[in-house]
Amino acid sequence: MVPAHVPHARVVDFDIFDPPGVEQDYFAAWQALADGQGLVWTRSNGGHWIATRGDVVRALWMDADRLSSACLAVTPGLGEVMQFIPLQQDGAEHKAYRTPVMKGLASRFVVAMEPQVEAVARELCAGLRPRQACEFVADFAEILPLNIFLTMIDVPLEDRPRLRRLGAQLTRPDGSMTVEQLKQAADDYLWPFIEKRMAAPGEDLFSRILAEPVEGRPWTVEAARRMCRNLLFGGLDTVAAMIGMVALHLARHPQDQDLLRAQPDLIPAAADELMRRYPTVSVSRNAVADVAVDGVTIRAGDLVYLPSVLHNLDPACFDRPEEVDFARSLSPMRHTTLGAGAHRCVGAGLARMEVIVFLREWLAAIPRFALAPDQPVTMKGGNVGACTRLPLVWTA
Ligand code: HEM
Repeated sequence: MVPAHVPHARVVDFDIFDPPGVEQDYFAAWQALADGQGLVWTRSNGGHWIATRGDVVRALWMDADRLSSACLAVTPGLGEVMQFIPLQQDGAEHKAYRTPVMKGLASRFVVAMEPQVEAVARELCAGLRPRQACEFVADFAEILPLNIFLTMIDVPLEDRPRLRRLGAQLTRPDGSMTVEQLKQAADDYLWPFIEKRMAAPGEDLFSRILAEPVEGRPWTVEAARRMCRNLLFGGLDTVAAMIGMVALHLARHPQDQDLLRAQPDLIPAAADELMRRYPTVSVSRNAVADVAVDGVTIRAGDLVYLPSVLHNLDPACFDRPEEVDFARSLSPMRHTTLGAGAHRCVGAGLARMEVIVFLREWLAAIPRFALAPDQPVTMKGGNVGACTRLPLVWTA
């Protein structure tokens, strides 16, 4: 049903989980919706607004007073189950909990982590190199962030298969687990570590965050669970999706591989530009006040979907947005791949470092690679769009 305050001209049928053509090209599937209107209402998934123009996506992302993050997703039920800290909080409460999380992920810790991330990436590359082919998503993109997360929370890599199953359910749910079961499985996995770190803090990420008081008070067990769950779910499929898109770009543009191999000092700028060009995260908000935008009114209670892709690839926001230009030298704060405003990704520094290390290690270890002939690349939509299959080949 379309609410009375939504003009008929703004009504579309666009399923964010399955936009037409998403299997072939996530970005093109979204761009088909960018018709300059600014805001449309889709009847799919219970009905919600979608911001479709770059300026509107960004302005609504910044409007944390009137657009709450409590819902987590436009799909009913997910937010109630997950209760992420700090992602689903607003205002002063959000700030109070975000501060210790930011401190735990501060850049000096990210810098200190780099050698371990390098070691993980190097080992994975060394295993793949002689094979002369791989399915990049399963063989690399999904494994690297998992191993890094385990290293950060100081847990043996032997736990990888268990956590990988959870990661796969989150990224590519096969219907075998409900959202509630997924949350429970994550909590069951994380709890022994949380309990130990709360009792006797070490040097790991959870210990660092949980040792920081929240406005002078210690973390409660419930808040600690919600925060650790947020970090687990926030840092796995996002990084995997990003690395997948970066690898896809390089496979399609061998000249960029050659350039970065010849001039590795370009890699940090290349990482920033590739992250701008291939944004795959979209966020949801629930309006807590009326917001007049672009000739329509988002009413308090409405849900709004903000796809980063329609900001970063809008020619009114970025010059030649589809072109990858390593000399573009934009501040990463200008694009919305990592969000904007109060909730901007607390893992941004870590995510950037992971992409840089991936580029450095992969390009050093794997010779010129290409898409495997006759094996299609497939993608998926949803809150984190991603390649689901990326078959690559190279000759030693
Ligand atoms: C390329 C990889 C990543 C991308 C594209 C990404 C994207 C985002 C975006 C768009 C937001 C804003 C959400 C919103 O406005 O509702 C966000 C927030 C967040 N991200 Fe990331 N992220 C990445 C990696 C990570 C990593 C590695 C971690 C941690 C280990 C992480 C943890 C979080 C958390 C906890 C928040 C919530 C911040 C808040 O609400 O204040 N992310 N991320």
